[in-house]
Amino acid sequence: MRRNILVASTNPGKVAELRAMLDADVEWVGLSDFPGLPEVEEDGATFAENARKKAIGYARATGLWTIADDSGLVVDALGGEPGVKSARYSGDKLPGEERTLLDYRNMRKVLELLEGVPAGKRTARFVCCLCLASPKEVLLESTGKVEGVITDREIGSNGFGYDPIVFVPDMGKTVAQMTAEEKNSISHRGNAIRKLKPLLDELLSWE
Ligand code: IMP
Repeated sequence: MRRNILVASTNPGKVAELRAMLDADVEWVGLSDFPGLPEVEEDGATFAENARKKAIGYARATGLWTIADDSGLVVDALGGEPGVKSARYSGDKLPGEERTLLDYRNMRKVLELLEGVPAGKRTARFVCCLCLASPKEVLLESTGKVEGVITDREIGSNGFGYDPIVFVPDMGKTVAQMTAEEKNSISHRGNAIRKLKPLLDELLSWE
């Protein structure tokens, strides 16, 4: 019988991306298949801790193997911030506020804090941690990164979050100037998924 694996996300884009890239012979389900599950809080000190906490939490709530992720932007000159605070760096989402406006406020905060910091000291990276857990234990983990430099203004209109202020030297453009395919081929999430795939294939081969 094919194993069910839960992707701990209500974002249909993320569920589809993981399904397509992991391309494993399993039955994928999403959190939207389990209405009313209590939310697992992301209050860990690291991306890995949050991914683990979500994977184990939802695995225990559903009895299914569960994949969870946590990601964000790490800026060296800000001591690693926004880090695990990436989604709400400039404060909580206001009632009725569009996601894009919150993204804009977050980017403005990073740019303001980096005002006057020279180009050579604006190094940063997107980081994504993935965790697969059973209700009993962590089964697999992977981390993906993409190295960049924080620009002095927003450039480009694709993507989401901090994409317009992260210039990737290897690509010669900001993440927001990349097509979805280009971003996928170099992104922290793409890299974390590519690392997890052979591990998952091996784990499933033992079943
Ligand atoms: P989450 O792990 O998907 O919840 O992401 C947390 C936050 O990190 C997002 O709200 C964004 O602010 C930021 N982030 C994560 N991945 C990306 C990305 O690919 N581009 C831009 N921002 C990102």
